[in-house]
Amino acid sequence: MVTGPRAMAARPGGPLTGTLSVPGDKSISHRALMLGALSVGETAITGLLDAEDVQATAAAVEALGATVERGDSTRVWGRGVSGLAEPADVLDMGNAGTAARLMLGVLAGQPFTAFMTGDASLRRRPMNRVIEPLSRMGAQFLARSGGRLPLAITGRPDLLPYDGALPVASAQVKSAILLAGLAAPGETRVVEPAPTRDHTERMLRAFGADLSVQDTDAGREIRLTGEAELDARPVQVPADPSSAAFPLVAALLVPGSEVHLPAIGMNPHRTGLFTTLREMGAAIEVANEREQAGEAIADITARTSRLRGVAVPAERAPSMIDEYPILAVAAACADGPTTMHGVGELRVKESDRLAALAEGLTACGVPVEAGDDWLTVHGCGGPVPGGETVATHMDHRIAMSFLVLGLASRHGTAIDDAGAIATSFPGFAELMQRARAGIAAAG
Ligand code: S3P
Repeated sequence: MVTGPRAMAARPGGPLTGTLSVPGDKSISHRALMLGALSVGETAITGLLDAEDVQATAAAVEALGATVERGDSTRVWGRGVSGLAEPADVLDMGNAGTAARLMLGVLAGQPFTAFMTGDASLRRRPMNRVIEPLSRMGAQFLARSGGRLPLAITGRPDLLPYDGALPVASAQVKSAILLAGLAAPGETRVVEPAPTRDHTERMLRAFGADLSVQDTDAGREIRLTGEAELDARPVQVPADPSSAAFPLVAALLVPGSEVHLPAIGMNPHRTGLFTTLREMGAAIEVANEREQAGEAIADITARTSRLRGVAVPAERAPSMIDEYPILAVAAACADGPTTMHGVGELRVKESDRLAALAEGLTACGVPVEAGDDWLTVHGCGGPVPGGETVATHMDHRIAMSFLVLGLASRHGTAIDDAGAIATSFPGFAELMQRARAGIAAAG
C-alpha cells in the first residue's frame, strides 16, 4: 500500500513526566542480525529494534539464506562467514545507510553477485567511502555515478586483508571493512583517525573473533584475524541513546518536567550529547551504571533546566554524530549562541542535516548561521516563536527534532511528513503522548 505524507504537529503544554521505555539500539540491532547470519548456530537477540531500518536488514539476511524467527526474542540461524546464498532479487535497504554499508562489507566476502538499492534518500548518499576500501580488498562494484545506489557487488571469499587508515572517521566504513576482513585470509588492520562507536568490535569479540584494539600515534588501530569462524552468542540490545535524546531534550525544555529513561546504552562513543548538554547546564542524572552483554547501560533522569550556549569541539563529533539535530533544538532555547564545529558529515546523512536545520530553525524564528562544516544557533533564551510547518526531507531525526522544538515554542510547530520516524523510533508520538506531550497527527 502506498501512503502519502503524514503531517504531524506539536504544541506547547504542561510538564512532561513519567518513565519512558525507549526502543532498542539501531546500530547494535543491525550488527546482531548480520553477525547472526555469519555465524554457525542460533543467535537469540532480545530487545531488537523493530523499526523499518532494521526490518530491511532482517529481510536482507533472510534473502541471503539465513533464517530469522521473530517472537519475544528474535532468533537467527546463520550460514557461516562465507556461506551466504546468492539473493534471488535486489536487496532493498530502504532508508538505512548503516544497513547498506555494513551489508556491502558482508557481501564482499561472498562468492556471488548481489544487487542493492534503497529509497530516494539512500540513493543520494555516498557509497564510495565503502566501495573504495572494499575494492582494494578485491570486491568488484558496478554503481551509479558518484558511487551511488543502485549498485551491483561481486564478492569473493579470498579477499585481500585490508591494511591502512580509514578514509573517513566513520563507524560504518570501519565496520564494513571488518566484516569483509572476516573472510580474508590473514590479518586486517584498520586505523581510525578518530575513535567511533565500537559496537562491531565488541560484538565480533563476543562471537569469538580474534580482534585486538590499541591506541597508536596514528590513531586507534584494530586488528582482526581473517578466515574467522563465528560462534552464535545471545545478544541483549540496550535502549538507543540516540532515540532517548528526543524525550530527554523535551524534558529539559518544557517547564516543570522530569522524565526517567531506564537501561539506556552508554557506550562511551555515543555519549557526546550528554556531555554537551551538561556543559550547557542540563540537569541529567545517570544512575545504576552497569554492563549488559558487553555494552554499558544506565538509567537516566532529566529535569527542566535553563540552558546556555556553548562551543562544541570538532573532536566530539563522532560521539554525538546523530545528535546534532536535537542539540540544535536545545541550543535554540538556550541563552546565547551555540556553535557546532567539524560537522561536515551531517551533509551526507539521511538528509543534508545542516541545510535542513538551518531552513527549519529559520522558519521557526531562530537565527542561524551555517558554513560547510559548522553551524551556529543563536538561542532565544526560552521558547522559540514557532508557528511553522517544517520540511523533514525523509529524515527521521529532523522530523523528531522539530516536533520537540514545537513543545518548546510559543505557537507550536508542524512537520510535513512523519513517515520517516518509523525507520528508527516506531511509537515515538505515542511514547511522547504518554509523557503528556502535545504531539499528534495534523490536518
Ligand atoms: C552508525 C554510524 C554513524 C551514524 C549512523 C549509525 C553505525 O554513521 O551516523 O546513524 O551504526 O555504525 P557514520 O559511521 O557514517 O558516521
